[in-house]
Amino acid sequence: MFLNKLKLKNFRNYEICETEFPGNKILLVGKNAQGKTNLLESLHYLATLSSFRASNDGEIIKWGADHCLIEADLTKYGADVELKILINPPRQKVLKVNGLKKSSFSDFLGNLLIVNFNVADLLLLRGSPSDRRKWLDDAISQVYPAYKDRLNKYSRIKTQRNNLLKDFKTSINLSSSQEELLSVLNEQLAVSGSNIVHLRNKYLKEIQQKAREKHKNISLSDEDLKIVYLSNTTGNFNAAEDEIPKPDKLLEYFQNMFKEKRAEELARAQTLIGPHRDDVGFMINGKNAVSYASQGQQRTVVLALKLSEIDLIEEIIQESPVLLLDDVLAELDNERQEFLLKSIKQTTQTIITTTSLSAFSDGYLKDKKIYTIDSGSVKENLNNEKAYL
Ligand SMILES: Nc1ncnc2c1ncn2[C@@H]1O[C@H](COP(=O)(O)OP(=O)(O)O)[C@@H](O)[C@H]1O
Ligand SMILES: [Mg+2]
Repeated sequence: MFLNKLKLKNFRNYEICETEFPGNKILLVGKNAQGKTNLLESLHYLATLSSFRASNDGEIIKWGADHCLIEADLTKYGADVELKILINPPRQKVLKVNGLKKSSFSDFLGNLLIVNFNVADLLLLRGSPSDRRKWLDDAISQVYPAYKDRLNKYSRIKTQRNNLLKDFKTSINLSSSQEELLSVLNEQLAVSGSNIVHLRNKYLKEIQQKAREKHKNISLSDEDLKIVYLSNTTGNFNAAEDEIPKPDKLLEYFQNMFKEKRAEELARAQTLIGPHRDDVGFMINGKNAVSYASQGQQRTVVLALKLSEIDLIEEIIQESPVLLLDDVLAELDNERQEFLLKSIKQTTQTIITTTSLSAFSDGYLKDKKIYTIDSGSVKENLNNEKAYL
């Protein structure tokens, strides 16, 4: 898959920007705070319908503007695809594929697929559970687009249930209609939650096999990586060893947990179980990599994961995703950097951001398209000037 053109209007610090992406290896060079990450963020948004750093859509609109547009032309399976997103809060965003309006997220997702690898990802193991859920959710919604609609549905039911629990807190006795509503919401949340846990388990099982192999190759040792889904509702799922639990088994766990946690949930007026509180664990040779692995070992895990995401997408959709490497090369030591660059296929379109070209050898730069980014404007670096910074 290839990104041919990107058009932004009022996106972050881009007022108007139209950039073509000829060729499959592109370097974006610019000083700090010029808009390199913003540009990649717009691609991430096209691929996942969410930002990796904004907590709401309003944040990505240029300050002072009331709406923003992200448009891209791609080539997928040899055909042209036009994607367009209009963000205009508080109205719902408008999604179009080849000029046709799409009413659900899942009808839009699955067109542009990316693997985004940035400096913050290197801290995935050190980060919070919500960082790891976000990584997992973005990755899954690209390969199983229906997942995104399920996540949204889960979140709506959870909000409704939390509101009801708050009502309970203020009333002394529960009316029978409140009780009835709670049991309906429990049922709905259990179905929705077990769908999500099921897809997370399935995805982790798929990525685990690839990541384990890559991790061995990068670390050049007999270190054995295992990924575990940590759930407060359905128990732990060791992706390397366990069979994926069936959705009806998961449903049973949910129903039992709602009974077990009833008093606590009522007292705290919050939904305390479910995938919104789950986490992903990483084990190296049986030890928790989050607490025991060195920073270098943790980076190796993330590198293995990112390379596995590429392979998994290729396996599922039979095309390469677009790879985004945001400042990450400069953060990796020589061995890991070399392993990453060597692993990227010639045919995988790769967009790399950097503050300086001096980190790259002349040989590497030879066949790359180089752009400079300066205060929200993207210009072709016609001379491929290495002495840019
Ligand atoms: N909503 C917004 N409207 C206008 N400018 C923004 C908005 N959000 C962030 N910016 C600006 O974008 C710049 C950061 O861009 P970024 O892409 O992160 O830089 P870098 O080139 O270092 O990756 C900052 O100068 C910031 O002030
Ligand atoms: Mg940046």
